[in-house]
Amino acid sequence: MKKVAILISGGGSNMIKLVESMTGDHPARAVVVASNDPQAGGLQKAAAMGIATLAVDHRPFGKDRAAFEDALQQALAPYQPDIICLAGFMRVLTAGFVQPWAGRMLNIHPSLLPKYKGLHTHARALEAGDSEAGCTVHEVTPALDDGPILGQARVPVLPGDTPDALAARVLVQEHRLYPAVLRRFASGDRTPVLLQGD
Ligand code: GAR
Repeated sequence: MKKVAILISGGGSNMIKLVESMTGDHPARAVVVASNDPQAGGLQKAAAMGIATLAVDHRPFGKDRAAFEDALQQALAPYQPDIICLAGFMRVLTAGFVQPWAGRMLNIHPSLLPKYKGLHTHARALEAGDSEAGCTVHEVTPALDDGPILGQARVPVLPGDTPDALAARVLVQEHRLYPAVLRRFASGDRTPVLLQGD
Protein backbone atom coordinates (compact mmCIF):
# COMPACT_ATOMS: atom_id res chain seq x y z
CA MET A 1 0.00 0.00 0.00
CA LYS A 2 1.50 3.34 -1.09
CA LYS A 3 1.33 6.25 1.35
CA VAL A 4 0.32 9.59 -0.16
CA ALA A 5 0.95 13.10 1.16
CA ILE A 6 -1.25 15.80 -0.39
CA LEU A 7 -0.02 19.41 -0.44
CA ILE A 8 -2.56 22.22 -0.68
CA SER A 9 -2.74 25.99 -0.35
CA GLY A 10 -6.49 26.64 -0.54
CA GLY A 11 -9.91 25.06 -0.40
CA GLY A 12 -8.67 21.64 -1.34
CA SER A 13 -11.44 20.38 -3.61
CA ASN A 14 -8.96 18.23 -5.53
CA MET A 15 -7.52 16.98 -2.24
CA ILE A 16 -10.99 15.85 -1.14
CA LYS A 17 -11.51 13.91 -4.38
CA LEU A 18 -8.12 12.25 -3.99
CA VAL A 19 -8.77 11.28 -0.36
CA GLU A 20 -12.24 9.97 -1.20
CA SER A 21 -10.85 7.87 -4.04
CA MET A 22 -8.29 6.04 -1.89
CA THR A 23 -10.50 3.32 -0.43
CA GLY A 24 -11.16 -0.35 -1.05
CA ASP A 25 -8.77 -1.98 -3.50
CA HIS A 26 -7.03 1.32 -4.34
CA PRO A 27 -3.27 0.80 -4.14
CA ALA A 28 -2.71 3.94 -2.02
CA ARG A 29 -3.96 5.71 1.08
CA ALA A 30 -3.72 9.36 2.12
CA VAL A 31 -1.54 9.68 5.22
CA VAL A 32 -1.27 13.46 5.60
CA VAL A 33 -2.52 16.73 4.12
CA ALA A 34 -0.01 19.57 4.39
CA SER A 35 -0.23 23.26 3.60
CA ASN A 36 2.02 26.31 3.44
CA ASP A 37 -0.94 28.29 4.80
CA PRO A 38 -2.22 27.45 8.29
CA GLN A 39 -5.56 29.05 7.30
CA ALA A 40 -6.06 26.94 4.17
CA GLY A 41 -9.67 25.81 4.18
CA GLY A 42 -8.71 22.34 3.02
CA LEU A 43 -6.92 21.55 6.28
CA GLN A 44 -10.12 21.45 8.32
CA LYS A 45 -11.84 19.45 5.59
CA ALA A 46 -9.03 16.89 5.64
CA ALA A 47 -9.18 16.66 9.43
CA ALA A 48 -12.93 16.11 9.21
CA MET A 49 -12.21 13.14 6.92
CA GLY A 50 -9.86 11.72 9.55
CA ILE A 51 -6.62 12.57 7.78
CA ALA A 52 -3.62 13.96 9.67
CA THR A 53 -2.86 17.58 8.79
CA LEU A 54 0.08 19.90 9.18
CA ALA A 55 0.99 23.43 8.18
CA VAL A 56 4.40 24.94 7.57
CA ASP A 57 3.77 28.65 7.12
CA HIS A 58 6.09 29.93 4.38
CA ARG A 59 5.86 33.56 5.48
CA PRO A 60 8.33 33.54 8.41
CA PHE A 61 10.97 32.18 6.02
CA GLY A 62 10.75 35.25 3.78
CA LYS A 63 12.81 34.74 0.65
CA ASP A 64 14.64 31.71 2.06
CA ARG A 65 12.89 29.05 -0.01
CA ALA A 66 15.46 26.41 0.94
CA ALA A 67 14.76 26.85 4.66
CA PHE A 68 10.99 26.64 4.07
CA GLU A 69 11.40 23.54 1.96
CA ASP A 70 13.67 21.90 4.57
CA ALA A 71 11.02 22.55 7.23
CA LEU A 72 8.30 21.12 4.99
CA GLN A 73 10.41 18.07 4.20
CA GLN A 74 11.06 17.48 7.91
CA ALA A 75 7.40 17.88 8.78
CA LEU A 76 6.40 15.31 6.14
CA ALA A 77 9.14 12.80 7.03
CA PRO A 78 7.38 11.13 10.01
CA TYR A 79 4.53 10.13 7.69
CA GLN A 80 6.97 8.35 5.36
CA PRO A 81 5.06 9.15 2.18
CA ASP A 82 5.80 7.21 -1.00
CA ILE A 83 4.06 9.73 -3.26
CA ILE A 84 3.44 13.48 -2.96
CA CYS A 85 0.42 14.97 -4.75
CA LEU A 86 0.42 18.73 -5.23
CA ALA A 87 -3.24 19.76 -5.33
CA GLY A 88 -3.55 23.51 -5.60
CA PHE A 89 -0.20 24.00 -3.84
CA MET A 90 0.73 27.51 -4.87
CA ARG A 91 4.40 27.72 -3.80
CA VAL A 92 7.03 27.08 -6.44
CA LEU A 93 9.27 24.26 -5.20
CA THR A 94 12.97 24.44 -6.01
CA ALA A 95 15.18 21.63 -7.25
CA GLY A 96 16.37 21.02 -3.68
CA PHE A 97 12.91 19.78 -2.72
CA VAL A 98 11.90 18.32 -6.06
CA GLN A 99 14.96 16.20 -6.90
CA PRO A 100 14.68 13.74 -4.00
CA TRP A 101 11.07 13.13 -5.04
CA ALA A 102 11.83 12.58 -8.74
CA GLY A 103 9.28 10.18 -10.19
CA ARG A 104 7.24 10.24 -6.98
CA MET A 105 5.63 13.70 -7.01
CA LEU A 106 2.59 14.68 -9.08
CA ASN A 107 0.93 18.04 -9.80
CA ILE A 108 -2.36 19.08 -11.32
CA HIS A 109 -2.32 22.18 -13.50
CA PRO A 110 -5.38 23.90 -14.99
CA SER A 111 -4.31 23.97 -18.63
CA LEU A 112 -3.50 21.61 -21.45
CA LEU A 113 0.26 21.60 -20.91
CA PRO A 114 2.62 22.50 -22.45
CA LYS A 115 0.30 25.47 -23.04
CA TYR A 116 -0.08 28.09 -20.30
CA LYS A 117 2.40 27.22 -17.59
CA GLY A 118 2.09 29.46 -14.55
CA LEU A 119 -0.94 31.52 -13.56
CA HIS A 120 -4.16 32.84 -15.18
CA THR A 121 -4.40 29.84 -17.46
CA HIS A 122 -8.09 30.18 -18.33
CA ALA A 123 -7.89 33.87 -19.18
CA ARG A 124 -4.90 33.16 -21.41
CA ALA A 125 -6.71 30.33 -23.22
CA LEU A 126 -9.68 32.62 -23.86
CA GLU A 127 -7.48 35.50 -25.01
CA ALA A 128 -5.76 33.17 -27.46
CA GLY A 129 -9.11 32.15 -28.93
CA ASP A 130 -8.52 28.46 -28.16
CA SER A 131 -11.37 26.12 -29.03
CA GLU A 132 -10.61 23.82 -26.10
CA ALA A 133 -9.12 24.01 -22.63
CA GLY A 134 -8.50 21.54 -19.84
CA CYS A 135 -6.19 20.26 -17.15
CA THR A 136 -3.06 18.17 -16.88
CA VAL A 137 -1.55 15.89 -14.25
CA HIS A 138 2.21 15.57 -14.61
CA GLU A 139 5.28 14.41 -12.76
CA VAL A 140 6.99 17.31 -11.03
CA THR A 141 10.45 18.24 -12.22
CA PRO A 142 12.47 21.32 -11.23
CA ALA A 143 11.15 23.30 -14.23
CA LEU A 144 7.76 24.91 -13.49
CA ASP A 145 4.70 22.99 -14.76
CA ASP A 146 6.96 20.72 -16.76
CA GLY A 147 7.66 17.02 -16.51
CA PRO A 148 6.15 13.90 -18.04
CA ILE A 149 2.41 14.13 -18.63
CA LEU A 150 0.38 11.44 -16.84
CA GLY A 151 -3.07 12.54 -17.92
CA GLN A 152 -5.15 15.27 -19.51
CA ALA A 153 -8.86 16.12 -19.59
CA ARG A 154 -10.19 18.41 -22.32
CA VAL A 155 -13.30 20.56 -22.42
CA PRO A 156 -14.65 22.68 -25.28
CA VAL A 157 -14.48 26.45 -24.92
CA LEU A 158 -18.10 27.66 -25.18
CA PRO A 159 -19.38 30.92 -26.67
CA GLY A 160 -19.46 33.59 -23.97
CA ASP A 161 -17.08 31.72 -21.66
CA THR A 162 -15.44 33.81 -18.95
CA PRO A 163 -12.30 32.74 -17.09
CA ASP A 164 -14.47 31.83 -14.06
CA ALA A 165 -16.98 29.83 -16.09
CA LEU A 166 -14.21 27.96 -17.86
CA ALA A 167 -12.37 27.36 -14.59
CA ALA A 168 -15.50 25.85 -13.07
CA ARG A 169 -15.98 23.43 -15.98
CA VAL A 170 -12.30 22.48 -15.97
CA LEU A 171 -12.42 21.92 -12.19
CA VAL A 172 -15.14 19.28 -12.70
CA GLN A 173 -12.69 17.48 -14.97
CA GLU A 174 -9.80 17.94 -12.51
CA HIS A 175 -11.89 16.04 -9.99
CA ARG A 176 -12.23 13.12 -12.45
CA LEU A 177 -8.68 13.22 -13.78
CA TYR A 178 -6.51 13.40 -10.67
CA PRO A 179 -8.02 10.36 -8.90
CA ALA A 180 -7.85 8.37 -12.15
CA VAL A 181 -4.19 9.25 -12.66
CA LEU A 182 -3.23 8.61 -9.04
CA ARG A 183 -4.84 5.16 -9.07
CA ARG A 184 -2.92 4.22 -12.20
CA PHE A 185 0.34 5.81 -11.03
CA ALA A 186 0.21 4.14 -7.60
CA SER A 187 -0.18 0.76 -9.28
CA GLY A 188 3.02 1.44 -11.25
CA ASP A 189 1.39 2.30 -14.59
CA ARG A 190 2.40 5.62 -16.17
CA THR A 191 0.27 5.31 -19.30
CA PRO A 192 -1.43 8.71 -19.67
CA VAL A 193 -5.12 8.96 -18.73
CA LEU A 194 -7.01 10.89 -21.44
CA LEU A 195 -10.50 12.21 -20.66
CA GLN A 196 -13.02 14.34 -22.51
CA GLY A 197 -15.49 16.50 -20.64
CA ASP A 198 -18.14 19.05 -21.54
C1 GAR B 1 -7.04 23.87 -9.12
O1 GAR B 1 -7.75 24.41 -10.20
C2 GAR B 1 -5.64 23.50 -9.55
O2 GAR B 1 -5.56 23.01 -10.85
C3 GAR B 1 -4.94 24.82 -9.43
O3 GAR B 1 -5.44 25.41 -8.26
C4 GAR B 1 -6.78 24.96 -8.05
C5 GAR B 1 -6.90 24.43 -6.64
O4 GAR B 1 -8.24 24.15 -6.34
N1 GAR B 1 -3.52 24.64 -9.36
C6 GAR B 1 -2.65 25.51 -9.87
O5 GAR B 1 -2.97 26.53 -10.42
C7 GAR B 1 -1.20 25.12 -9.67
N2 GAR B 1 -0.35 26.02 -10.37
P1 GAR B 1 -8.58 23.23 -5.08
O6 GAR B 1 -7.84 23.81 -3.87
O7 GAR B 1 -10.07 23.39 -4.94
O8 GAR B 1 -8.16 21.84 -5.39
